[in-house]
Amino acid sequence: MEVLDHLINSYGRFKRLLIKPCGGIKGEVSVSGAKNSALPLLAASLLVEDLTLENFPFLLDTLYALKILKLLGKEVELFPDRKRVRIYGGITSTKVPLELASLFRGSILFLGGLLGAVGKAIVPPPGGCPIGSRPIDQHLKFAEHLGADVDFENGYISVNLKAPASRGDFSFDLITVTGTENALLTLVGIEGEHTLRNVALEPEVLDLVNFLREVGINVETYGRTMKIEVPPKGKLKRRLTYRVIPDRIEAGTFLVLGGLLGEPLRVKNLNVDNLGAVIEKLTLSGVRVNVLSPSEVEVFRGETLRGIDIETAPYPGFPTDMQAQFMAMLSVARGNSVIVERIFENRFKHAFELQKMGANIAVKGNTALIEGVESLKGAKVKATDLRASASLVIAGLIARGETVIENIGHLLRGYEDMDKKLQGLGCEVVLL
Ligand code: EPU
Repeated sequence: MEVLDHLINSYGRFKRLLIKPCGGIKGEVSVSGAKNSALPLLAASLLVEDLTLENFPFLLDTLYALKILKLLGKEVELFPDRKRVRIYGGITSTKVPLELASLFRGSILFLGGLLGAVGKAIVPPPGGCPIGSRPIDQHLKFAEHLGADVDFENGYISVNLKAPASRGDFSFDLITVTGTENALLTLVGIEGEHTLRNVALEPEVLDLVNFLREVGINVETYGRTMKIEVPPKGKLKRRLTYRVIPDRIEAGTFLVLGGLLGEPLRVKNLNVDNLGAVIEKLTLSGVRVNVLSPSEVEVFRGETLRGIDIETAPYPGFPTDMQAQFMAMLSVARGNSVIVERIFENRFKHAFELQKMGANIAVKGNTALIEGVESLKGAKVKATDLRASASLVIAGLIARGETVIENIGHLLRGYEDMDKKLQGLGCEVVLL
């Protein structure tokens, strides 16, 4: 069996995670490359002849994306030990298979990658975490704005850019991360000047922007407006090596863990600048975060954690992808906390699992009210989505008694070697 399938099978075979209580963590952990940067960069590999990605996270979502690239005709070479992947060669198909696309939300990025590379794409609606309806109307509206034909056939969306496509002077109705990334990817194929307004400015979007600059595209940002200047195709770089930024959500997950158990916990290979809102909320809650350098912090457990209020928002606001992990922490903080989820309409499923562990949480619409309890107790719980699974891992480590998290595939979709990293810190966790 080839390496890619072998890796997918080796992660995919695990069903649950067993967690034993952990009294404290003293040690250091290194953050992997960002999943949500690697995915648009993999889609961008369609735009060049030969791309090597360094600091590449080997996890299920990125492996599924590599499998899609192979089916689109690209050659893929993996170097897991060096955290490196090489994608090269031409495109032989423009159809993204349903079975793979339905496994993860990031598959929608092949729409932009294919449109930018060859002007047409057949993609299924994406899968991913069940955290709301997650429409892609903005992605399609942008393609239509460029003059593309958009058709729905047999469960697939077929998009054809008619040549010559009109200019991309476009304003998004709402801030969308992958919508912005898809627009950027698509515009690579259209020579000239374009303007995108009301764009997402998440660090992962800006990582794609940096990549496009390396390729030879001039991108300027003014607030939430981006000006993009695409030179003739012949002037673009065709072969390059690019380093994926550190995963700020994985980093934030470890910071929360450090806030509960750090004696202290040192977190390395992160980018402190991308973690402003997370560090601010940790500090407000009574956690001491000591910044040692722009890429390294140490976190001391908060002796008396206090309840705080959180409202998720697009970057630079508090990330929706950190809300679940904070909920686990605030479950054992002194006093009350309020979390308001403003990005996704159904992202509180972890609250009901945390309740099984003794947390006192009341959910009303997009608001969760948390009354801190003395301690959590181990239980059999179920991971309902990727970040929910991280919150349950945190809860399991601080709980009294054993915890078993079912459906652990969600964790493996988005965290590289989480079990091994925790074991390296002395935690007793076992994938089963
Ligand atoms: N939305 C629309 N129409 C669209 C696009 C988005 O109504 O065409 C809505 C969504 O339903 C949501 C809001 O806009 O209510 C924001 O969604 P966005 O498009 O920004 O989310 P996304 O691009 O699908 C990415 C990350 C998510 C992360 C969100 C928000 C990737 C692959 N996924 O999703 O990551 O939560 O941005 O920051 O980049 C995760 O890693 O666990 C994860 C869910």
